[in-house]
Amino acid sequence: MLLEVEKVTKGFPAAEGDRVRVLEGADLLLDAGESVAILGPSGSGKSTLLNLVGALERPDSGRIRVSGTDLTALDPDALAAYRNGTVGFVFQLHHLLPQCSVWENVLVPALAAPGRVTDEVEKRAARLLEAVGLGHRRAHRPGALSGGERQRAAVARALINRPRLLLADEPTGALDRRTATGLVDLLLELNRTEGLGLVVVTHAPEVARRMQRVFEIVDGRLVETRIPGDA
Ligand SMILES: Nc1ncnc2c1ncn2[C@@H]1O[C@H](COP(=O)(O)OP(=O)(O)OP(=O)(O)O)[C@@H](O)[C@H]1O
Ligand SMILES: [Mg+2]
Repeated sequence: MLLEVEKVTKGFPAAEGDRVRVLEGADLLLDAGESVAILGPSGSGKSTLLNLVGALERPDSGRIRVSGTDLTALDPDALAAYRNGTVGFVFQLHHLLPQCSVWENVLVPALAAPGRVTDEVEKRAARLLEAVGLGHRRAHRPGALSGGERQRAAVARALINRPRLLLADEPTGALDRRTATGLVDLLLELNRTEGLGLVVVTHAPEVARRMQRVFEIVDGRLVETRIPGDA
């Protein structure tokens, strides 16, 4: 099993010693080559869930395993390797480095990886940028890109190290429908050809329905659902 989320709870400190309870027993299983969409209203815990699976935060209780390994058991080196190599993260806010070009931004995760930037890595970067429609924008800095172009650059960056699991937080939020379709095409192609597991947070029904399964966060739990209007 690629990803096992078991009875995960997570809350945050609130005013006057209270705690906001966000996740209250979230469960999710994902095999290699599977894809899920995560829906849920604003504030329901979608980004929190991705942050936990991406090992950016720790659950209060419960367990998260990736390829059988409990994330809380990783030492700092293994954790860094996990964040840089095993998972690809597309943040809700893209977090591109403003001083670097698009091309450099895409290659940054490869700089920290064992093999460094080989010809093959550069070929993959070029292919990913073509696939997201930014082949002609390589030399631009993020500040010179539109919101949707930044989002697409962030997707290319998340995929450069051939992750096994992609965690994407509204990757098409700033895209028109046609550009969004092209981006989802790329994710599904890698899902097929590289067995990339996909966890895609989205508000867009046309994106969600292309994933194999759809979950909604309801009262802190993940409930399998259908897109309204689908058979
Ligand atoms: N670091 C934090 N400290 C305090 N509260 C937090 C923190 N991170 C998230 N929260 C709270 O947890 C809840 C869930 O936040 P989260 O970002 O997971 O929502 P979301 O489902 O991604 O929403 P959106 O669709 O608006 O992105 C919110 O009420 C938020 O205020
Ligand atoms: Mg969010």
